[in-house]
Amino acid sequence: MSNRTLAILKPDCIRKNLIGKVIAQIQDAGFKVVALRMVKLTPDAAMGFYEIHKERPFFKDLIEYMTSGPCLPIALEKENAVEDFRKLIGATDPQKAAEGTIRKLYAESIQENIVHGSDSDENAAKEILHFFSRKELLENYAS
Ligand code: CMP
Repeated sequence: MSNRTLAILKPDCIRKNLIGKVIAQIQDAGFKVVALRMVKLTPDAAMGFYEIHKERPFFKDLIEYMTSGPCLPIALEKENAVEDFRKLIGATDPQKAAEGTIRKLYAESIQENIVHGSDSDENAAKEILHFFSRKELLENYAS
């Protein structure tokens, strides 16, 4: 069991002015923010991050959406982080997400779904390093 996961507040979350509300919900659920940055992804960076989906029919739209404005990657820490964070955000499709989850509360569609959460401990470790250096993760951890 890992204690870290990567969240990304996606461009629709930023456009809707929901950064504060979503981070408050994440922290109220017991997650600690280890590192955070606002970044506008280039198409290459978005394609690299979502490489696993490159054969999917929605890939092109996904890249357009993820590069349509800034997003906010956040490295989070909590016991059982990956599973607990996925419970907090709810199903990918907001119509199928449980009541009270972040996607149920705020997401428009299966694509514009407000927030990303890593789907396994292995991917969490890779995804965190996609956005944050080992050095800054260590420095932040010590503070
Ligand atoms: P995320 O959890 O970041 O992982 C992949 C993303 O692709 C997902 O959230 C959605 O934004 C998008 N996605 C997944 N499935 C679909 C789909 N069927 N149609 C459109 N977009 C999708």
